[in-house]
Amino acid sequence: MTVDIAELKKLAGERAAEWVESGMVVGLGTGSTAVYATRAIGQRLQDGRLHHILGIPTSEQTARQAQEAGIPLTTLDDHPIIDLTIDGADEIDPHLNLIKGLGGALLREKIVAAASRRMIVVSDARKVIAKLGTLAPLPVEVIPFARRPVYDYLTSLGAQVTLRRDRELEQRPFLTDEGNIILDCTFPQGIDDPATLAQTIIAQPGVVEHGLFLNLATLAVIATPDGLQILKRSEI
Ligand code: A5P
Repeated sequence: MTVDIAELKKLAGERAAEWVESGMVVGLGTGSTAVYATRAIGQRLQDGRLHHILGIPTSEQTARQAQEAGIPLTTLDDHPIIDLTIDGADEIDPHLNLIKGLGGALLREKIVAAASRRMIVVSDARKVIAKLGTLAPLPVEVIPFARRPVYDYLTSLGAQVTLRRDRELEQRPFLTDEGNIILDCTFPQGIDDPATLAQTIIAQPGVVEHGLFLNLATLAVIATPDGLQILKRSEI
């Protein structure tokens, strides 16, 4: 049986959108899974199942998708507390700790996640792993001026470090919505102690943020070829 990954992503995104209630401020995640949640929220607004929703997008790309879906947008200045955020992930461990940022939006995603009362992660089953760092690299967002010292620092921590390149212009570095670069860090044995690594990385001047999302997700909606799986960290 061939499994259509896009179908699984759609299933997870649309299921997560069912947790959105009228009157909520909603954090809108970035990526090919979260977009299904954004579209489903828009659909529910259009057909009247939802009303008075305000969205806070986690990237410029998501802002455009939300506008296309007809979701009114707001900002953290006007709504510093978000009721619910729905976002994708690149890895999900059994404690619902995550690696995020392969799409390059980790900084705004983490700001939004940290401002949220609840965060639902949406994913297909391929990204559920036993140990963080075994499937995806850990993205670290860095101020361009600090590229070399941060590169050397991350290497000294045991990471194999790669400067992320622009998807269309290979000779240029990828730049985030904030104009920063991303250093992707592969840890050959995976990440043994994510909490300590998170503190160690953020301590280096020039590091803006990293893709370890620890104790932020409250629930995960995982689409498997056999149906949906709901993983909970705490009651939602
Ligand atoms: C964006 O920066 C990422 O954190 C995404 O949330 C993550 O890469 C998941 O994206 P997909 O759903 O496209 O795999």
